[in-house]
Amino acid sequence: MATEAIAAPTPEREAFYEKIAGSNLAPLWERLHGLVTAQPVTPCLPAIWHYRDVRPYLMQAGGLISAEEATRRVLILENPGLKGQTSITHSLFAGLQLILPGEVAPAHRHTQSALRFIIEGKGAYTAVDGERTTMRPGDFVITPSWTWHDHGNDTQEPMVWLDGLDIPIVRLLDASFAEPGEAEMQAVARPESDNAARFANNLAPVDWQPAVKTSPVFNYPYARTRESLDVLARNEDPDPCHGHKLRYVNPASGDFAMPTIGAFIQLLPKGFATRPYRSTDGTVFVAVEGSGESRVGDQILRWEPRDVFVVPSWARVSHQASDEAVLFSYSDRPVQQKLGLFREQRGNA
Ligand SMILES: [Fe+2]
Repeated sequence: MATEAIAAPTPEREAFYEKIAGSNLAPLWERLHGLVTAQPVTPCLPAIWHYRDVRPYLMQAGGLISAEEATRRVLILENPGLKGQTSITHSLFAGLQLILPGEVAPAHRHTQSALRFIIEGKGAYTAVDGERTTMRPGDFVITPSWTWHDHGNDTQEPMVWLDGLDIPIVRLLDASFAEPGEAEMQAVARPESDNAARFANNLAPVDWQPAVKTSPVFNYPYARTRESLDVLARNEDPDPCHGHKLRYVNPASGDFAMPTIGAFIQLLPKGFATRPYRSTDGTVFVAVEGSGESRVGDQILRWEPRDVFVVPSWARVSHQASDEAVLFSYSDRPVQQKLGLFREQRGNA
């Protein structure tokens, strides 16, 4: 199929298009060039949300609506190129969730998978299928598809995390199911750390077989992630495009920790500037430590800890770290890889 030709409009053609529209028909030749493009074309724009600007709005939302009434008190990080679509990229959702001291975000479950990346506060919990995990800044917590989950904050401080979900993917496939829990809080079925003891130490119960594609580990604590980055930074030269970069894995399969969302953590040494890189997975970044800037296409995004920014599909990105910096990121890479669609390009070639 040619992608270049654009048929010239003529009165006869226009009349024909109008006539067939009544029969739910349309001419592909009028649309083909916009559908089968020579390279990715996305309405998604590069954008950054500075935490210092967003936090006051989050706290105002805290006075406006309770976590219980809202079900989830979340401000959507909506891509300026995707207004009204509740998306940060075409395939992914991002939001900042606030839970105040004493509050509970009630139990429910849905087919959408969620990750939490902890931004501020420590000691609140997420419960997944009857087990609580305490969340600390930089922790990567998963609530797998169709698992019961609720959140609670028994501390004295507000707690904020980034919610990353595959809502647009599930919407594309018309595969959304959801139900509320019978009680606001799940009954605790197992003590905290039970899950980590079973699955997070390169061990698994002897007869256990994975029943789902999501990792059996549901909290990847930042303390351990940071330790890995530290050791790598001492032992190897940084990759020219990524610095020291790791992906979160499902220990049962070696695949990504979630079937629809790939999550990554990278360390950029102080003063390090990466070579340009682009890939087909539009990516959401969170600055965890350090400050710096990222050039995305011809835009410069300057970040400091807790800022969130987005790099659209196939946009060239290069990062420069003023101090030693750590960036968390997530994208739809597992989906693209399984469909054979993923492409990347290192440098300016
Ligand atoms: Fe949820």
